[in-house]
Amino acid sequence: MAGVAEEFGRLYGYEPEGVWEAPGRVNLIGEHTDYNDGFVMPFALPHTAVAAFGRRTDTAVRAHSADLPGEPVVVADPAPGASAGWADYVASVVWALRDAGHAVGGVDVHLASTVPTGAGLSSSAALEVVVALALNDLFELGLERQQLASLCQRAENDYVGAPTGIMDQTASACCTAGHALFLDTRDLSQRQVPFDLASLGLRLLVVDTQVKHSHSEGEYGKRRAGCEAGAAELGVSALRDVPFASLPESLDRLSCDEIRGLVRHIVTENHRVERVISLLDAGDVRAIGPVLVEGHASLRDDFRVSCPELDLVVDSAVAAGALGARMTGGGFGGSAIVLVEEPSSDQVAKSVVEAFASHGLTEPRVFTAVPAAGARRVR
Ligand code: GLA
Repeated sequence: MAGVAEEFGRLYGYEPEGVWEAPGRVNLIGEHTDYNDGFVMPFALPHTAVAAFGRRTDTAVRAHSADLPGEPVVVADPAPGASAGWADYVASVVWALRDAGHAVGGVDVHLASTVPTGAGLSSSAALEVVVALALNDLFELGLERQQLASLCQRAENDYVGAPTGIMDQTASACCTAGHALFLDTRDLSQRQVPFDLASLGLRLLVVDTQVKHSHSEGEYGKRRAGCEAGAAELGVSALRDVPFASLPESLDRLSCDEIRGLVRHIVTENHRVERVISLLDAGDVRAIGPVLVEGHASLRDDFRVSCPELDLVVDSAVAAGALGARMTGGGFGGSAIVLVEEPSSDQVAKSVVEAFASHGLTEPRVFTAVPAAGARRVR
């Protein structure tokens, strides 16, 4: 993004040492599985957080965002509990690296992001990862990308205070253009799976509902705690260990319907990721459509993280001829993805927009997602 380095110079009175960028993501399939040691399959968006950095001689962090006019936010001593608003996403990564024993000094940062915020597209992970990658280069830490992603997750969990899994940060750090990333969140093994829809006459639309239901954060934690309770009742360390083939017997052993729904979603969702991988490996890309729709129903009915707006995207898109659709990300608002034949994509998008209008809802933002590159240094 032009101007980030220039703006840095204007703000801080010296030239930045470099500029880095890191993308947001959508998740193709594998939702809420990442804190159950399960499988996920995100890919990076072309939307990125771009940041210019310069090292300081002290240990403070000064951070400025193009979206927020005014003076940079100064965090003299990054530590959990010292809330500095959005700048926490910068300071928390500095803290996580230092806490892990890495020699990281103070920095000045100016950033600008094109990742929509509050849209379930991981704008915060993009911010964390761009900081981690820049610090890794500037202070010559020699860390691998997955290590950086794990430290960003630690920053988000222990500093920002959101009990999220490892998917978003790994996607931002490790995705490659033209591929979806198959990640086993237990051992963090990865495989880049070719996902070039254009060559097959297909498109993946992202529909940002522009709604964010306020209870989302607390509900995320409740789902996570419910999954852990289910694993404990079944005597396994994580729901990943419940085999799909024995799901009916496992469900019979659970204490209540709420936990039964959570367990059924996680076990069937891991199975859906495996089915999608097999279909993609076999070149049968159109056949993933119904698996996406099944995944949405499971998130809506069993895991209960959808909302009327997300359901409306899926129902109206499928009714208009989409091959498949599902909510993506944590839920309770944010975005859905829609798999369509290229020739009908405008018509499907129009039908979704019209459905929102006829329900008196704010017009959703629709764009085509092409798998983009992960985080990188740009100058
Ligand atoms: C959010 C979290 C991720 C993951 C998804 C749901 O995006 O940050 O770790 O749990 O929700 O799949």
